[in-house]
Amino acid sequence: MAPAGLTPPLWAGAAAPARSTEASHAPHGASSPAGRPPSRRASRWARHDRILRLLLRVGRLFVPLWPWLLLLVVATVAGISAELLEPMLHQAFVNRVLLGHQTRLLPEILAFYALAATGNWLAGNLVHYAFLQATERFSVRLRAAAYGHLRRLSLAALRRTSTGEATAALQQFGPEVGEGFLGLVQSILASLYRLPASLALMAHLSGPLMHVMLPALALYPLYPLLTARPLRRALTALALFDVHAQGVVNDRIAGLRGLLHQVEASEDVGALRALLWRRVPLRMRAFLVDRAGALLDVAVHQGITVLLLGVGGSAVLHGDMTVGGLLAFLEYVRGVEGPVRRLLHLPIGAQRVAVVAERLFALTDVPVDVPPPRRPRPVRLRGEIEFRGVGCTGDDGRDILVDIHVRIPAGARCAVVGGSGAGKTTLGALIPRYLDPDRGAVWIDGCDVREYDLAGLRAAVALVPQDPVFFRESVLENVRVGRPHASEREVGQALARAHAEDLLTGGPVGGRTLHEAGGNLSGGQRQRLALARAYLQAPAVLVLDEATAALDPALQRAVCADLFAGSRGQTVVFITHQVELAARADMVIVLEGGRVRRVGPPAQVLWGAPPAGGEPTPPGGESPRRGPRRPAE
Ligand SMILES: Nc1ncnc2c1ncn2[C@@H]1O[C@H](COP(=O)(O)OP(=O)(O)OP(=O)(O)O)[C@@H](O)[C@H]1O
Ligand SMILES: [Mg+2]
Repeated sequence: MAPAGLTPPLWAGAAAPARSTEASHAPHGASSPAGRPPSRRASRWARHDRILRLLLRVGRLFVPLWPWLLLLVVATVAGISAELLEPMLHQAFVNRVLLGHQTRLLPEILAFYALAATGNWLAGNLVHYAFLQATERFSVRLRAAAYGHLRRLSLAALRRTSTGEATAALQQFGPEVGEGFLGLVQSILASLYRLPASLALMAHLSGPLMHVMLPALALYPLYPLLTARPLRRALTALALFDVHAQGVVNDRIAGLRGLLHQVEASEDVGALRALLWRRVPLRMRAFLVDRAGALLDVAVHQGITVLLLGVGGSAVLHGDMTVGGLLAFLEYVRGVEGPVRRLLHLPIGAQRVAVVAERLFALTDVPVDVPPPRRPRPVRLRGEIEFRGVGCTGDDGRDILVDIHVRIPAGARCAVVGGSGAGKTTLGALIPRYLDPDRGAVWIDGCDVREYDLAGLRAAVALVPQDPVFFRESVLENVRVGRPHASEREVGQALARAHAEDLLTGGPVGGRTLHEAGGNLSGGQRQRLALARAYLQAPAVLVLDEATAALDPALQRAVCADLFAGSRGQTVVFITHQVELAARADMVIVLEGGRVRRVGPPAQVLWGAPPAGGEPTPPGGESPRRGPRRPAE
């Protein structure tokens, strides 16, 4: 139950959305060892370093996709080469055919033109294809790995994880990181090839014009340099808002059923609308900064074009340059402007990719606090459970369980009772390692559970939680979660033992389709379905966390009778608030404030020696009217 070691976020010092929780992280990574705030320069370098590390980390994930990356590089180079040919063909057409009247060259020029255009088209499509192949595969891998990571987390770590943010990360951030990163790489590659190639061809076309062009190149960075900082801030604020709002919206939708009863709809919609409205000024700010900068860009472009037209036109009039040469030169100017602009804007794109990647990695970096053993022991359990000095501490440092020493013999039925918050659920979750204790160990059959193969352990120890989870699938498939290859007959038997066989016949093949979270079932039906799921697993140890609490008394008696009758040889640990149920156990553990208060047979633990003048009140419940009795078997 150790807290997740999340690193301080990248946006420390960047413009974070107002009132967002991210802002509270800001000071962490940004303070110097001496406690003084770092200089602006130091924090800028730290941020650059951070972005670079994140991009390298994303880049490493692309390495196995090298064949698609290679195709992307080859196709990009081929496409740009074909494009670079076109101004030369225009030059030949104007100079030779239009002005030189050499019409016999026309078919040759047209053939080359068709070749270059086809090559360009083919290469463009190949670039697109390779890009999609690489980014789609990347996104599948990343999302599957992130989901796989979540599946390895403990119950405590999952409770700390926001479902909304995790959904946003898996659904949206995975593809966005892949496409953003590869877009950056392709942009660098294309620019680094197109820029020098265009300049070389321009130098070949006209030396004097290059004397104008080269100093003019210095004007291009004017726009990105002046606007980079405000634009980066505006876009980062927008990116931060988007990831934050996505998480909030997902969380709201997931919890909508609960909100129905508790919050007035108009209040709730108003709160969400207020949050979503905050995007509008952020988006407008980014737009205005970008457009203001673009004005400067247009001015630079027009100025340079006018200069080149003046100098180039005079060169043409003096016979130092051909008309076709001037036209081709001007076409190459566009080939220079694009790459220069893209290269200068790279830091902004890189920052956005880094912000999203960092959110994604924050999810996948949550440490696996239930690590699988290096050399897992095979699992063949009789089911003797022993808690040896077990202690658990919550995220807030408070003790949840303290020094638990208890032995539950194999095949025993053990009731765990105690008031709300006594630590019963936590104790049950330790057995199949949904949690690991902070102190001490849980042993099964003389071996620390941490040494067993984790999948085998969880197959051998079935836990029916207080709030079972169901999927939007048929009843059959929902029960099969416990054993995916079980036959329909076996599922039917498990449902019958849980007194829920009617659910299988209540609809098309496989029973009715469940709504999300089993929303079209009653509380009691949900509990019986969860029991059937556990029965199907045929585990050596069955842990039931208030698994029959929602059933009416008659049904509860019948379900429990069948539970006990069918569990011979199984160790059954059942957490309950009902004294009548606890009285049917072979032993009872009484928890209070995370400590074991009493252990022993029910007659002794629940009632002890009745004091003169009345029945003592049993722990965690009301007085039973009858004495303990063995379950009907
Ligand atoms: N990760 C955590 N960090 C801090 N406290 C926690 C954490 N998980 C559980 N707790 C606290 O530990 C205590 C025991 O929780 P637990 O769910 O085990 O109680 P319980 O006996 O099952 O209660 P109930 O009968 O209400 O189900 C509670 O006070 C709970 O708030
Ligand atoms: Mg509980």
